[in-house]
Amino acid sequence: MPFQLPELPYAADALAPHISAETLKFHHGKHHKKYVDTLNELIDGTEWADKRLETIVRKAPRGPLFNNAGQHWNHSFYWQCMSPKGGGDPVGKLADRLRHDFGDFNALRKEFDSAAEQIFGSGWAWLVRESSGAFKIHTTANAENPLLQAAIPLLTCDMWEHAYYIDYHNAKEKYREAFWNVVSWDFVAAQL
Ligand code: FE2
Repeated sequence: MPFQLPELPYAADALAPHISAETLKFHHGKHHKKYVDTLNELIDGTEWADKRLETIVRKAPRGPLFNNAGQHWNHSFYWQCMSPKGGGDPVGKLADRLRHDFGDFNALRKEFDSAAEQIFGSGWAWLVRESSGAFKIHTTANAENPLLQAAIPLLTCDMWEHAYYIDYHNAKEKYREAFWNVVSWDFVAAQL
């Protein structure tokens, strides 16, 4: 079975005004779709055709196959990190664990934002659980993701220009503020 573009877990206009329907239509319907289509072309008739996406991400040599597989994985994860019911602070066990490792949520957000700001060029900011059990902020370049460092991804923010340019132009900080307004802590909690 070729890979499929997953449906957005909400309507295209559901995250507005934080993330507009226009952004989601381009980002999901054009950019993500192109990664999936290219991935399917690249694996067709090769040893990769029957492999799981995670296997391709972990094992493919750096190049077009890895890039399109990584971007398919990253975007599929990213859509779920946002929700029209999102925003606010985490609660319950997740909140206790994050407080333990970051002090408070403002400190977490500040560290995440600062790491995201320092990405030069295209990349992703992540909240991960490292193999030691510690919660950490990571960043990755281009199509890379924390699976390559044996860390469990819990949350990601797409810091490629196509994620924010329609809504916020060069004001990346406004995009990140918007992201926190729709962040799905329920999804993060479900990854633990
Ligand atoms: Fe993207």
